[in-house]
This record gives sequence, C-alpha cells and structure tokens, in this order.
Amino acid sequence: MRRPFIAGNWKMNLTKAEAIALAQAVAAKVGAGHAVEIAVCPPAVHLDAVAAVLKGTGVGIGAQNVYFQPNGAFTGELSVAMLVDLGVQYVILGHSERRRIMGETNEHVNAKLHAVLAGGLTPIVCVGETLDERTANKTEDIVQEQLAGSLAGITAEQAGRVVIAYEPVWAIGTGQVATKEQAEEVHAAARKMLAARFGETTAASIRIQYGGSVKPDNAADLLAQPNIDGALVGGASLKADSFLGIVAGVKL
Ligand code: PGA
Repeated sequence: MRRPFIAGNWKMNLTKAEAIALAQAVAAKVGAGHAVEIAVCPPAVHLDAVAAVLKGTGVGIGAQNVYFQPNGAFTGELSVAMLVDLGVQYVILGHSERRRIMGETNEHVNAKLHAVLAGGLTPIVCVGETLDERTANKTEDIVQEQLAGSLAGITAEQAGRVVIAYEPVWAIGTGQVATKEQAEEVHAAARKMLAARFGETTAASIRIQYGGSVKPDNAADLLAQPNIDGALVGGASLKADSFLGIVAGVKL
C-alpha cells in the first residue's frame, strides 16, 4: 500500500513570522500519526524556524532545492548535510520553475538526486510537460525523458525511496487543473515506465503525486484515482484551511 502524501510548496512566499504562523496553524489541526503523510516546504531561510515549530508534530518539513556538492566554493548554494542538520526530511527536485527559469537540466536533477539519497532525505522529483508539448502529443515522451534522465544510475532500492510529482507545467499556478482522467493517464504511464526500469514491485511502491492548481474542491476527485498517491500543492498550501482541505480530500 502506498501511503498518501500531501506536500505544500510555499515557493518564494511568506515572511518568517508568516511562515511560523502557517506551520503552527497546519500542525495544530494535524494529529501526530495521521494516516496521510503531510509536509510543508518553506523557503530555505525559514527552514530552521519552521522545523522548530514542526518538531514532534505530524507534519514533516522539506526544502525546495539543494546543491549536489557536499561543501566548498559554491556561493549561494546549500548542501544536503546542511538540510539534514536542520531536521529537513524531504527535498523537491527539478520543479518546473527551476527547470524553466533557473535552467536546471535532467543532469542537474540527477546529480542532486544522488546526493539527496546518499544523505538519507526523501526526494520529490518533479516532471511534467508544457502546453505546447501536450498539444503536440508529446506528454509521455517528455515524462519518459525526464524520468530517465532524472533517475539515471539509481538502484531499485533507492527508487523505492523516491517520490515523483507529475506536474503539467500548464496547470501550475494557472487555475487550470488537469482533469482526473488526464492526470491518471499520465500517472499510469509513468508507473509503467518505472516498472520497466525498476521492476513491478518497486514501481508499485513509488508514490506519484499530482501537482498543478490542486484546491480543496478538486482534490478528492484527483486523489481517488488509482495511480495518484498524493499532491504537491503550491498556491493552496499558503493557507492552513485550504491545505488541510486538500488533505481531507484523501479517501482513507
Ligand atoms: P500550484 O503549484 O498548486 O500553485 O499550481 C503547484 C506546484 O508548483 O507545485
């Protein structure tokens, strides 16, 4: 059984005081030992403060990015060990905003993935097509290429510790959510790709989140699909009520 996993990606939002307040509001309503795995991913400068709030609660904490080198002259970057030191448990890798705006490639994502796995953190590896790619019928090719490149060189055992987030770029922050059929089709195809690479048993254990304009009113339909194991939530994770409304959409 795949444990449903809902993660909030706060992106480049919130002051420190706002981040602390939001973490407190989320944690206050999530009991420890919730059936759904829940995490929030604050901006890096708030990780320390938010980790302190979430310690011992049922809400985990993730970073939005990391660098693959262990230390050294890499101005502006953060290492896996630094995140571990703060109590961080997850790292989002290859978000489409990083791929498109910051120029991250599958090779970068792959190098980071190896570092994150070696450091014992749980990676959330994002893949997804643009609108042009979908219109040109290339969705599955793009997902295949991104999965193959991003997950290169990892073992089946390591793959079992990876979370995938399928996030169609055209659905991110646009309010234009993929239909449950559109999302399920890609999730099922992605799971087949994972099975071809890592074997059926491992593929059956890998959580694949959907991301892109998930809101409390569309979450239940998406999350009821057989291959959708959770959500990576942007905008709607910035308010405790809407984030928890999405968690409530998981049918247990
Ligand atoms: P959104 O963002 O929920 O605001 O569309 C999702 C994401 O980028 O992870």
